[in-house]
Amino acid sequence: MNHEERILSASHGRDDQLDQALRPRLLSQYIGQEQLKDNLKIAIQAARNRGEAIDHILFHGFPGLGKTTLAYIIANEMETNIRVTSGPVIERAGDLAAILTSLQEGDVLFIDEIHRLNHAVEEILYPAMEDFQLDLIIGQGPGARSVKMDLPRFTLVGATTRTGLLTPPLRDRFGVLLRLEFYRVAELVEIVTRAASVLGIRIDPAGAREIGGRSRGTPRIANRLLKRVRDFADVRASGHITAEVADAALNMLAVDAQGLDEMDRKIILTIIDKFRGGPLGIDTLATAVCEEKNTLEDVYEPFLIQKGFLVRTPRGRMATRAAYEHFGRAFTGGDNDAGPRLF
Ligand code: ADE
Repeated sequence: MNHEERILSASHGRDDQLDQALRPRLLSQYIGQEQLKDNLKIAIQAARNRGEAIDHILFHGFPGLGKTTLAYIIANEMETNIRVTSGPVIERAGDLAAILTSLQEGDVLFIDEIHRLNHAVEEILYPAMEDFQLDLIIGQGPGARSVKMDLPRFTLVGATTRTGLLTPPLRDRFGVLLRLEFYRVAELVEIVTRAASVLGIRIDPAGAREIGGRSRGTPRIANRLLKRVRDFADVRASGHITAEVADAALNMLAVDAQGLDEMDRKIILTIIDKFRGGPLGIDTLATAVCEEKNTLEDVYEPFLIQKGFLVRTPRGRMATRAAYEHFGRAFTGGDNDAGPRLF
């Protein structure tokens, strides 16, 4: 690690600690996702009343919307332990078996990116989820033997960006499926205000409004922008975040008034300027903007679609009239009209 990388990783480490401190610990402290919270409250209360582990829960939603935070909250509300891992980290069936056998009655096992579990590992999960049984084959060929073990009744909390990425047998084994939505600006303002208070940052309501409104409907981004605006305020404005300070800091970070960042702009302007507004396929777009296809699909496109700047048509991605207007380009209609065209 060179000097610069050390500084970067040290500051990331600090941000991670701050992120932990910012996490709401109880459902009552969690802002937004009202319908999801209502459903979760019922499931938690019912399980608590019966003295049982809560049913397996699958959260789906775009990155940064709070899936991990909710898993911690469930464990907290159920007063149990939580084990946190992720799909790509569990490489072999034995890795998952080791985790499962170390659980205690009622524990929460959180698997992030659960759609990325490999097939052999997923097979272990089916009987574990359904019958709390571990069914493991040890060794290969004629010497192979099967080991069966009872597992404690645990709760699996899975997280994924889209339920469609899960195999049907895995998806069907979750009792509760909960979808996280983008947050409303008022909720993000509340989240920024709460985070500022936890971190001891001085911020005006208008400053919080400026940050919340430019956070792409995503609390993780709101908190990240708050920290960067705080840095700017400390250096340039005696530490107090007003609307003007937030605006200047966010402009410097190249986050525009609608919350679009450098990559959003690159995506839309590539479609408009290089492909006459589209349609174009996701692979072509990914190559043109030098970004992973999955990142485009899971991180950038959902927000651009929600904003009405991008549409997915059967023939590919297209920029909308609103996108042309936002970027000050003359809308030429015709080929660029986002509606379906037959001829
Ligand atoms: N911090 C990040 N997400 C939050 C939320 N939904 N509620 C409160 N604080 C948060």
